[in-house]
Amino acid sequence: MGIVHKVTNTLLNVYIFSWDALLSLLNLVLPNKPIGKVTPKGHPGFGGEWPEYVPRKEGDSRCSCPALNAMANHGILPHDGRNISFTEMNHKIRATYNFAPTFCLFVPNYAAEYLKKSYSKDTFDLQDLDLHNAIEHDGSLVREDVYFSPDQSKIAVPLIEDLLTNVSGKDANGKPLMTPEDLSASLSQRYADAKDTNPEFKPLSLAHKTFGAANASTMLTIFGGRVEDLRSVLLYERLPERWESRVRSHFGLTFGAFNSTVFKVKRGVKEVPPKVKGNPDT
Ligand code: HEM
Ligand SMILES: *[C@@H]1O[C@H](CO)[C@@H](O)[C@H](O)[C@H]1NC(C)=O
Ligand SMILES: *[C@@H]1O[C@H](CO)[C@@H](O)[C@H](O)[C@H]1NC(C)=O
Ligand SMILES: *[C@@H]1O[C@H](CO)[C@@H](O)[C@H](O)[C@H]1NC(C)=O
Ligand SMILES: *[C@@H]1O[C@H](CO)[C@@H](O)[C@H](O)[C@H]1NC(C)=O
Repeated sequence: MGIVHKVTNTLLNVYIFSWDALLSLLNLVLPNKPIGKVTPKGHPGFGGEWPEYVPRKEGDSRCSCPALNAMANHGILPHDGRNISFTEMNHKIRATYNFAPTFCLFVPNYAAEYLKKSYSKDTFDLQDLDLHNAIEHDGSLVREDVYFSPDQSKIAVPLIEDLLTNVSGKDANGKPLMTPEDLSASLSQRYADAKDTNPEFKPLSLAHKTFGAANASTMLTIFGGRVEDLRSVLLYERLPERWESRVRSHFGLTFGAFNSTVFKVKRGVKEVPPKVKGNPDT
């Protein structure tokens, strides 16, 4: 089973990335979805009508990912965050955020792999995704490190305020906009502070740096860097009223298109001196 499974999975990834290259090209020639028509008909959020936001309740399962928690808070994923199938997550993140089908297959399949579950048959609870150093890692922008906050679903309000206050861009109406340079600077600062304060902090592997930059880059792509929207998503894990994905490509955000933002952000991450001293909880 082991070897067959590994070979199958490798072939699957070759298939996903060839498919992704094709979709990236098609996205370049096909017109974007019109504004107001990004969320597909028949899915929650169509026409800007998101299901009611109900904050998490005691006993609900939540995780370190604000985007997935927001889906549960709106009942797009089960509100209790439990018994979610990987295939269901694939279809729902695609309809909600307009990621390409390649991304929406690759990521849940990757998650199934590290949870040692079957992508096609099994289910998971949101909290399962927080397996430390699988995807979840220290030095992220919206969560204190595990050493300070073992519950990685806990929203780190001061970190998020720092992140959203220190932005340099402006949109056409003069509203604050996060730029790739801002995101690189914030990641650099977080890594420096984590290294300085967290006795268990280990320098991030290249994979974790890339994933970290990828997760953070959704703020620039899917959320268009709009600080007002990010405030709602990161602090309340709530989709803004009448929100839709800022990515309007016909087939959604492919790896081909996403990677250029991710690498730009990652390239800008530098060694900087730490800012905070001591335990961030005190
Ligand atoms: C199957 C899909 C997904 C999985 C398994 C997943 C998993 C995760 C995990 C484990 C983290 C925490 C990483 C860390 O420790 O820093 C995270 C963070 C994050 N994710 Fe997701 N995620 C998924 C989809 C998405 C989507 C669709 C979006 C955006 C629309 C998104 C946006 C974010 C953001 C903004 C962060 C915070 C990044 C940071 O703190 O630097 N995720 N995700
Ligand atoms: C989980 O969901 C499946 C359907 O997707 C259902 O058959 C099963 O009973 C559920 N299990 C629990 C423990 O709720
Ligand atoms: C977040 O990072 C994980 C791995 O750490 C990756 O599988 C996933 O694609 C990333 N999510 C996004 C939206 O970039
Ligand atoms: C704010 O961002 C700028 C670059 O956009 C960076 O130079 C500066 O160090 C950041 N300040 C803090 C406190 O993170
Ligand atoms: C995008 O980046 C991921 C993660 O580093 C990599 O596996 C993939 O091959 C890249 N895809 C493209 C189309 O550049």
